[in-house]
Amino acid sequence: MTNRSKIAAVAALAVLLSACSGGGEKGHEAKTEGEARQTTPNSMASMPSGNAEHGKVLAETKTGTRQACAECHGPAGNAPIDPTYPRLAGQYADYLEHTLQMYRDGERQQSVMGLQAKDLSDQDIADVAAYFSAQKSDLGDLATAH
Ligand code: HEC
Repeated sequence: MTNRSKIAAVAALAVLLSACSGGGEKGHEAKTEGEARQTTPNSMASMPSGNAEHGKVLAETKTGTRQACAECHGPAGNAPIDPTYPRLAGQYADYLEHTLQMYRDGERQQSVMGLQAKDLSDQDIADVAAYFSAQKSDLGDLATAH
């Protein structure tokens, strides 16, 4: 093999490999999503998109057994009434969604939040998550904790 044909062979191999791995990844993602939909009803893949305006209404309104989120987590989820209550402002929407589904479905058990999340639909959850994740977080770092 001449040097030139070696280079050509290596280049062809590289193209071939990148094509394979690209295709392979796509195939894998599609399969994982499909599997998640079938086996995990609370998968993020099936969440509706959130409406932050409706989320704000939910966060500030009491209905039935559910209090307003702001009553405990503070206005905009930024000033919890107790230092052990988490701030929600600026948290990733998908984390908030997943956590709220877990409280609602009893996978994360905590008496206070279990009751708060009990009657939330997936759409409500997507909406409050969109709202709180869009708020600017006042979370300090450890340097300001004490
Ligand atoms: C009565 C007080 C109270 C109300 C009202 C309340 N929460 Fe909570 N929330 C808590 C407490 C206490 C925790 C910590 C629970 C734990 O340790 O799992 C918490 C935890 C959470 C978490 C988990 C945060 C994390 O970092 O893992 C989310 C998300 C959350 N609340 C969202 C909401 C939403 C949305 C609402 C309104 C629909 C709401 N909460 C209403 C008291 C409350």
